Amino acid sequence: MKFSHEPIETNVILLAVLTLITVSIGGLVQIVPLFTVESTIERVEGMRPYTPLELAGRNIYVREGCYTCHSQQIRTFRDEVERYGHYSLAAESMYDHPFQWGSKRTGPDLARVGGKYSNAWHVAHLTDPRSVVPESIMPPYAFLNTKPLRYEDMADHLKANRAVGVPYTDEQIQTAVQDVRLQAGVDPDADTAELLNRYPKAVVGDFDGNPEVISEMDALVAYLQMLGTLVDFSTVSPEDLRQ
Ligand code: HEC
Repeated sequence: MKFSHEPIETNVILLAVLTLITVSIGGLVQIVPLFTVESTIERVEGMRPYTPLELAGRNIYVREGCYTCHSQQIRTFRDEVERYGHYSLAAESMYDHPFQWGSKRTGPDLARVGGKYSNAWHVAHLTDPRSVVPESIMPPYAFLNTKPLRYEDMADHLKANRAVGVPYTDEQIQTAVQDVRLQAGVDPDADTAELLNRYPKAVVGDFDGNPEVISEMDALVAYLQMLGTLVDFSTVSPEDLRQ
């Protein structure tokens, strides 16, 4: 059967109307099913909001523009997975406001840098990158060692995150300042069980080697040390991610 396109191709109004109808059908097919699912992010065991100290460190990471040289997103390519570990899942940045995926890698990806080095290595590296990696071009951030962390207003930071969807509880907001002190190990005899209850897998301790002061270095290293450590990939199968 011969179908002539001529009436459509010679009438711009008809062409526009038919194009609109066709594109609308395609759009509806893509968009409507999304309204029926609760979330487009696959659920993954282990994700939790940042502890107040980690969140403070993350704020410093953003403030210092670390994202201009470092990405936090491992793509699904073999070379990336072999170098950095399991590719990043959407769920791993579900509590990030703003996300730190980045668009440039002057330095390596940091999505799974947590636990790769000791705290002392991070402090030495951030203080003077060339002291541990002679060929490094990363700038030094030595001032973080002597700058006391401002954390009296941490509850407000948690509240701001809750306003955009991070499920911080009233308890977590109330204990925010105390949790900074607990995690930074200012009082070595303090009971950290409550903190770990609120934030499973939180790494507790003095990060910068100076237990007297909670410095910005403490917060930044606490943040770096938890990156990519929350999801236990030995228990996540590809089927889980396909739901
Ligand atoms: C001008 C670009 C630049 C900026 C800005 C920068 N870095 Fe880097 N970073 C690098 C480069 C290049 C390397 C690789 C050489 C090295 O290890 O020092 C690196 C390495 C690292 C590593 C080691 C990663 C690994 O897996 O070995 C960490 C951690 C790190 N940077 C953290 C930070 C943090 C935190 C900030 C912000 C305070 C920051 N960087 C800012 C360029 C940068």
